[in-house]
Amino acid sequence: MDKDGLSILDNRTNTTYEVPFHKGTIRAMDLRKIKTGPDDFGLMTYDPAFMNTASCHSAITYIDGDKGILRYRGYPIEQLAEKCTFLEVAYLLLQGELPTASQLKDWINNITYHTMLHESTKHFLEGFRYDAHPMAMFISTVAALATIYPESRHVHDPEMRRLQIYRLIGKVPTIAAYTYRHGLGYPYVYPDNDLSYTENFLNMLWRMAEVKYKANPVLARALDILFILHADHEQNCSANVMRSVGSSQADPFVSTAAAAAALSGPLHGGANEEVLRMLDEIGSKDHVPAYIEGVKAGKGKLMGFGHRVYKNYDPRARIIKQAAEQVFEVTGKNAKLDIALELERIALEDEYFVKRKLYPNVDFYSGIIYQAMGFRPEMFTVLFAIPRTAGWLAQWEEMVIDPEQKIARPRQIYTGYEERTVVPMDKRGA
Ligand code: CMC
Repeated sequence: MDKDGLSILDNRTNTTYEVPFHKGTIRAMDLRKIKTGPDDFGLMTYDPAFMNTASCHSAITYIDGDKGILRYRGYPIEQLAEKCTFLEVAYLLLQGELPTASQLKDWINNITYHTMLHESTKHFLEGFRYDAHPMAMFISTVAALATIYPESRHVHDPEMRRLQIYRLIGKVPTIAAYTYRHGLGYPYVYPDNDLSYTENFLNMLWRMAEVKYKANPVLARALDILFILHADHEQNCSANVMRSVGSSQADPFVSTAAAAAALSGPLHGGANEEVLRMLDEIGSKDHVPAYIEGVKAGKGKLMGFGHRVYKNYDPRARIIKQAAEQVFEVTGKNAKLDIALELERIALEDEYFVKRKLYPNVDFYSGIIYQAMGFRPEMFTVLFAIPRTAGWLAQWEEMVIDPEQKIARPRQIYTGYEERTVVPMDKRGA
């Protein structure tokens, strides 16, 4: 009997199998040897929604959901949000270490060099209808970059990978800003490479007739902090899509577009937009208790609450709440904050939410800040996708160079018919 493993007795055959532990797991393939005979395929695991399955080794992000801990490459999110810029954190996620001053300078230069979009991409964006959702435009345009950079399909060439990483991190704010201005019918603003990452993004969003745009430093820093908080979150739905699509050796542009599509859903990054709709629907603080009763009675979910991994306060939500105060000093308070605070207060005391360990997540307060800054709710998920691109790329590159990874291809439990014969049309029933 192996002390570092499981002994599994198969009652069908009265056979015992030794299955070693692997870093707190067992390898699913080790179960394949458990068979009733040579024609038996062997035992598989069944785990819809990956509730208890590790799909990879990863050294990027660590979450302890019970304790409410989030770290990138070992650094607590609180310290990164306080002491670093988003581009430093993007470097950390992708390179594994915080940059020195000269490494950061090169990194920023390389990313800044790639902020421009090819004019044909601009024309591509112009083809969308005036009321197209910005996230749908973002997803399509990121995928369309593959048409400009066909060499990106050489995913096993490290230099090629690096170039696409610069391009994607450099261009996603430009695409995001263009989707915003497209909806308003405003002319697109070209990147200003004298500005920082978030200042330039604000410039491309808000600049009108002024010669040089000067972002409010408090808002630019608040956005930078929000970008840090959203940069990665280990094997979430969209990271899993990035790895899964990338595992077929698809290029990083279409893989990122697929990940962004996963993010757009209301249970994932689309939740921030839904939170604002919910707060609008509630309308005022006095309506909060009735709304909560409705949620408990099964009439929808409390958007921005709950998480697959966090069974404690989401540490990102706590930092966002602090950042909100600084933003509101500049913009004035968003009236929805009072409704949100009341929702949180009541929900955190209510047995339904306490029992299920439902706490506010990152999306609960982010939309309130974005709205105070002047963004329409349709833009909120795009604002999530910009920084998450760095995380997706880190997850993708880790997958590409992992010798254990192959094309992602789950198994199924077939529940359909056994073989049957096609009946001619005139013999089929009504
Ligand atoms: N409001 C009310 N009840 C909820 C909520 C909620 N927001 N979330 C979960 N529950 C209930 C759920 O109905 C279930 O109850 P019961 O045991 O009686 O059936 C229980 O809590 C467990 O929920 P689950 O659906 O099994 O949990 P999950 O891990 O599959 O889902 C989640 C996680 C985030 C999809 C879910 O909590 C949710 O839909 N939340 C609202 C959407 C949201 O805010 N999403 C953003 C997530 S954080 C940012 C990101 O990753 O993009």
